[in-house]
Amino acid sequence: MDPAAADAPTDGDGGLPPGRPVGWTGEALRLLDQTLLPGRVVHVDVTDVDTLVDAVRRLVVRGAPALGAVGALGVVVAMRQARREGWDAVRLAAEVHRVRTARPTAVNLAWAVDLVEPLVPQGEAAVLAAAQRIVTEDGAANHAIGRLGADWLLERVARRPLRVLTHCNAGFLATTQWGTALGVVRELHRRGVLEQVYVDETRPLLQGARLTAWELARDGIAHVVQADSAAAGTILGGLVDVAVVGADRVAANGDVANKVGTLGVALACREAGIPFVVAAPESTLDLATAGGEAIEIELRDGDEVLVHAGVRTAPAGTRGHNPAFDVTPARFVTALVTQTRVLEVSAGRLPGDSTNDGTA
Ligand code: MRU
Repeated sequence: MDPAAADAPTDGDGGLPPGRPVGWTGEALRLLDQTLLPGRVVHVDVTDVDTLVDAVRRLVVRGAPALGAVGALGVVVAMRQARREGWDAVRLAAEVHRVRTARPTAVNLAWAVDLVEPLVPQGEAAVLAAAQRIVTEDGAANHAIGRLGADWLLERVARRPLRVLTHCNAGFLATTQWGTALGVVRELHRRGVLEQVYVDETRPLLQGARLTAWELARDGIAHVVQADSAAAGTILGGLVDVAVVGADRVAANGDVANKVGTLGVALACREAGIPFVVAAPESTLDLATAGGEAIEIELRDGDEVLVHAGVRTAPAGTRGHNPAFDVTPARFVTALVTQTRVLEVSAGRLPGDSTNDGTA
């Protein structure tokens, strides 16, 4: 990985337009390195499959829709490497499969690879054009999600201004631009009806404290960061009007896989009687998966929970348990907002029901 720019003052440096975590330089896949935020804004160029898979696994780039963009552009990376290194079609297919399976839970990664891989026989230009369409369409979807989500919330929640809780990072960093859950937050802010955002820090890798807080600070959106374990108390204490989160995969029955800790937020919202809203593009819906029990949950290295800021916190010999995601059953999901519809899931309007266009 070659650093393309180091310590740049804005994320516009490094060749990507502002507010974009993923792009194509003409020669390489360019990523804003999210492991270094908020301290340093560094872009890296990826030109081979090993580096791409490593970047996905280390969360240099993360978040379901962003992983979709990386999967599609990753097929172009693999094709260019095949040309350089003289791979045959079998080797290329094997390398594309490594891209597709670099992380298991976010369905967008496999979805995007499956969309562009059939175009491989047509050549690099055809695959690149299809990948760039995925990127463009995701950006448009996020803006639509923001508008639909804000409309739905403002019709159902009376309090003004609104106090929103979010978990993990479902902002522009996790997508191609604007964000899903943070797309709704940005739209509420734009309409002048947002009081503040409670940002769960999101142990163990701190996507909330490091990434969501950075995005909100850049946009001048009022926010506080709290420990994940504070969320239930904040919600039951009456400090929150709605929780809005993203998703890594939504099953046909409406069960939602998202960052570990999301389930606890949903349970607290149910107890408090406030909406628990999931904002995700249609590309995150996996109608081939019947229910949440069939979603593979990524189990990450236990050391991520045993080591804090480089210092081991648990005694030697203690093992860590580190599921990266959990599944919130559909009955706790008040609404699922996509770019085309709002499904009131806990009221029985399920994504897998083909008659369901989201109209109440
Ligand atoms: O492990 P991560 O950081 O990739 O997890 C990301 C999340 O759980 C997001 O909430 C989800 O991918 C939706 S992003 C719009």
